[in-house]
Amino acid sequence: MSGDSLKRIARDLHTYLTQQQEAGMEWYLDEGPVDDPSPSTVAPTAPVPAPEVPVATDAPIEPVPAEPVAPKPPADKPKDLEFQMACDAFVRETINQIEQHRQTPVESDQADIFSEPEETVEPLTPEAKATTLAALAEQISSCEDCKLHSTRNQTVFGVGNPDAGLVFIGEAPGRNEDEQGEPFVGRAGKLLTDILKAIGFERDDIYICTTIKSRPPKNRDPERDEVQACEPYLKQQLAILEPKVICCLGRHAAMTLLGTRDSLGNLRKKVHIYEGIPVMATYHPAALLRNPHWKRDTWEDVRKLRALHDALLAETS
Ligand code: URA
Repeated sequence: MSGDSLKRIARDLHTYLTQQQEAGMEWYLDEGPVDDPSPSTVAPTAPVPAPEVPVATDAPIEPVPAEPVAPKPPADKPKDLEFQMACDAFVRETINQIEQHRQTPVESDQADIFSEPEETVEPLTPEAKATTLAALAEQISSCEDCKLHSTRNQTVFGVGNPDAGLVFIGEAPGRNEDEQGEPFVGRAGKLLTDILKAIGFERDDIYICTTIKSRPPKNRDPERDEVQACEPYLKQQLAILEPKVICCLGRHAAMTLLGTRDSLGNLRKKVHIYEGIPVMATYHPAALLRNPHWKRDTWEDVRKLRALHDALLAETS
């Protein structure tokens, strides 16, 4: 490769990283060694001190000139404004899509015009949601509906705010989750927490669960019978939570919830509807640890997700 091409690549990379930093996505730079089991550290935003240079003890010590401070870029850069406009259009289109979905009669209604109108069910209070979720978690903890019960330590049900507007669904508990009984507590979990922070959420603001509630041995993919056995539990959990919007982390969650075999690349491109609730799909944090170049797309997805969540919440308040 010529020197010019290398320089161009380095310059593009620098521009890209600078843009990400300006957008506030420290997690974008949060790599850490892939096989390091310890929690990764967020890339420092302050300048890294230069390595110490040994000096002869009798040499006069020159004062070090202060580093010039780079001016802060204006917050409303054209690129950000462009994204903001795209985001606003996305929210408007999605709200229209939900509205259209609400107005489309389901097939059974069309078939039987004499059927009684459905009773409106009062939404559960936050307290009722919490107790109903706890009862379901208790019921699941002794479930033996699939072979995973014989290898798991414990079931991993879900954590967060039972009255959250937003629910994230991952794939399956891993080793750390199986040990602690909480979803997303390993390296992928740390990255999820950073992603949430970047869009202004703490873990307690939202709700996090996984598609299946028991760890597959050696973190292999869940098998069809395991997903089928756990699917009713996920659906009951969502019926209790009644979120405004759902985000599937990775293809497995989307496949289960939406009954599709489409690629994640395609699933990301549009909003889906599950039981009247909009569903977005984005990359699983574990996949982002292996493929950091997907973080840019994820950053856009989660910013749209936040905007949609806020708009839907504003609609009902
Ligand atoms: N991956 C998941 O999908 N869920 C977890 O809880 C951890 C890793």
